Order: sequence, then C-alpha cells, then structure tokens
Amino acid sequence: MHHPIEPEDLAPLLGRAADWLRHARRVAVLTGAGVSAESGVSTFRDNGGLWEKHRVEDVATPSAFRRDPALVWRFYNARRANLRAVKPNPGHFALAELERHLGPGRFTLITQNVDRLHQAAGSRNVLELHGDLLRVRCTGCGRVEDRGLGPLDDLPCCAECGELLRPNVVWFEEPLPPGVWEAAEAATAASDAFLVVGTSAVVYPAAGLIDTARAAGARVIEANVERTPASQLAHVGLYGRSGEVLPQLVRRVVAGEPPA
Ligand code: OAD
Repeated sequence: MHHPIEPEDLAPLLGRAADWLRHARRVAVLTGAGVSAESGVSTFRDNGGLWEKHRVEDVATPSAFRRDPALVWRFYNARRANLRAVKPNPGHFALAELERHLGPGRFTLITQNVDRLHQAAGSRNVLELHGDLLRVRCTGCGRVEDRGLGPLDDLPCCAECGELLRPNVVWFEEPLPPGVWEAAEAATAASDAFLVVGTSAVVYPAAGLIDTARAAGARVIEANVERTPASQLAHVGLYGRSGEVLPQLVRRVVAGEPPA
C-alpha cells in the first residue's frame, strides 16, 4: 500500500537525512530491487514482480537446478537478456556521487541486486550479497568466469572440465558468498548513517543488517515507494521513487545545506 507524502513534507526530512550523511564518519547503504525498478528491471514482490510469475522453488533453489537445469537457465538467460537493454538510473548515479563526495574509506554499498547497475553508474566499493548475473560458476570444478551479457547455451558447459555451469547468484537455501557477508556486517556495524533503499526488507540475512545498524547506533534512513518492515527501524523515511529522492538527497549532502 502506498502512503504518498506531499513534496513539501519531504524537504525537512531530506535536510535531516543529508545532514546525517554529511557528518557521518562512515556511511553504509543497503539496496534492493527497487533501486533498479526505474531502469526497467523487475522487482520480486511488487505487482507483476518476478515471484508472481515464477515460483521460487522452481527457479531459485539448488534442488530446482538439480531437477530441471534447463528451466532454471531459461529464467536466468531471460534476466540476462533483459539487462542488455538496461542502464543505470538517477538513483544509481546519486549513490555513486555520494561515494565520490565522501571519499575513500567512508562509504560501502551493500546490494542484494545481481544486475551490476551500481558499478555501471560508477560505484566502486560494492558488496554483492546475492552474486551477479554476468558471471557463471562451474558445478564441477568451481571455476568462476565473467561471460558478460552475451547469449549462453540453454545448458552451458565449462570450457575447462565440461561440467554444467550455473549462474553465479545466491539461491534460497544457500549461504552468501564467503567473505562478502562478513564485510557487509562489518561495514554496517561501523556506520554512523545507514541508508536502506528499495528493498522489501523481508529476505534474511540481508534484512538483518538494518537491525545491526540500529544496534550499532547508526542513523537509519529509508528510501522506498512504500513502507516496509524497515520503516519502524528508520529514523527518517523518504517515501518516493529512489530515482527522484536519491538525487535530491545527495544534492543536499554535496551542497552542505543546513538541516531545515
Ligand atoms: P523486492 O521485490 O522484495 O522489494 C522491492 C522493493 O522496492 C519494495 O519494497 C518496493 O516498494 C520498492 N520499490 C519499487 N519501486 C521502487 C522505486 N522506484 N523506488 C524505491 N523503491 C521502490 O526486492 P528485494 O527487497 O531486493 O534474492 O528482494 C530481496 C531478495 O529477494 C532479492 O535479492 C532476491 C529476492 O528473492 C534472491 O534471489 C536470493
């Protein structure tokens, strides 16, 4: 359900959030599918989202892949093909600008997205909690290879050992990539300001980072088109499209405007 907030109400909230980001020693950001929605990438749980058209247990679990790898690959190849026509939107660019403005060591972007749009927009310190769609991993020898977004066979095989390749994404029931989760937790615990963007905040362990941030004393800012379970943990909610809200927020951080 949407609870639109009038633009005039947003200004003081943007000012307060910008002030926290500007004065934070360290900032961590957690993004979800919503940040890419305005680029034309489907989210999972919104109306018309991916999990409305496909069952998680058919396409996004290790047992689904064992049962019917061709079906799973068709799902991921369609998502890879969609990415060829997709570009970062102003929300991605705003986060890249925030990182440049804060400077090295002060900014970590933790994303659940597998679309690489943050990197395409210029973000550098990015932790991909759920892997990425560009790389493939061999189910036999474990070799990981970047295949870009070029077409893949229906059942692609490893050039080294001939075994079946799988997408380099994290499926349900699987652990997060080694080292990445620990780095995300550490960056969150060290942050003074924590920005949560475009995630329904229901998938764990990622959503648990919001609790970690709160427990560490960070100011929590949520940007989303609607309220989520993260809203009750947020000190400020910026309810609007991230492609519109984030550029306004970062403009204020960069301009150094005093809080309203
Ligand atoms: P969801 O689809 O669960 O949530 C998308 C969120 O984005 C919702 O809260 C929307 O309200 C919000 N949203 C939509 N459009 C927006 C916009 N223009 N601006 C701001 N917010 C917007 O996606 P995630 O939270 O990313 O995991 O889902 C988390 C994980 O669940 C995914 O990484 C994926 C999925 O199953 C795996 O596949 C392992």
